Amino acid sequence: MLRRWVMAGLGAALVLFGVSALARLALDPQAQSHVFWYINRATGFTAYLVLFANMVLGLMVKTKRYDNIAPRWSSFDLHQFTALLALGFLALHIFPLLFDSFSPFTLTQLFVPLASTYRPLWIAVGIISLYGFVVVTVTFYFRAQIGQRAWRAIHYVSFAAFFLVLLHGVFAGSDSQELWAKLTYWVTGVIVCMLTASRFLDAGSTAAAPSRARRVVKD
Ligand code: HEM
Repeated sequence: MLRRWVMAGLGAALVLFGVSALARLALDPQAQSHVFWYINRATGFTAYLVLFANMVLGLMVKTKRYDNIAPRWSSFDLHQFTALLALGFLALHIFPLLFDSFSPFTLTQLFVPLASTYRPLWIAVGIISLYGFVVVTVTFYFRAQIGQRAWRAIHYVSFAAFFLVLLHGVFAGSDSQELWAKLTYWVTGVIVCMLTASRFLDAGSTAAAPSRARRVVKD
């Protein structure tokens, strides 16, 4: 319990730090006009990498195969932590666009699919995946109320949301043509595909006996 509060505190401190830095930039007349766009790009990649780590950890929790790399209780804790951390970085990815002078967004354009005039389809894909991640993260804390089966079904949305985010990054991003960006998308995408395939192949063999991870999840 204490660990959860420490993690939540760390996440909140990070978001507060980011928001106060943004507020200072917004009020500073000397601020460069592209600063908010750069923040959007940097935090977009950071959020993507944190979500990638989150997916990998979530897939590791489900199988014994990686127990020698990381014990499942630590993967499980980190899985929860990275979900909240990613949402913090996403706030820093999205809200600076309100202050951008290069291509300013309105609140509607930020949250209503296809309302954006900038790359509308690929921004809509980002918005839909954001909703997917928010639902998956929030429902984690309501498992007892919604039941294990419904919770699991909702959790599967994260697979679709991850691949939608990949498309959003590739087609909405300005850095997608850079070699480092291409490598990042390919390596992370292939790793998540491989882990997902091995998770579903393992599913049959682990279904019979309740795993230790399932006991941790029910904790
Ligand atoms: C309301 C939802 C979202 C909005 C309005 C939004 C907005 C944007 C915009 C305007 C760009 C283009 C920046 C550029 O020109 O480089 C972008 C790129 C990007 N976004 Fe999002 N985004 C959203 C959700 C997400 C989510 C959920 C993720 C991942 C966790 C994400 C990760 C990225 C990445 C990796 C890029 C590429 C950055 C680059 O190439 O420099 N976005 N987003």
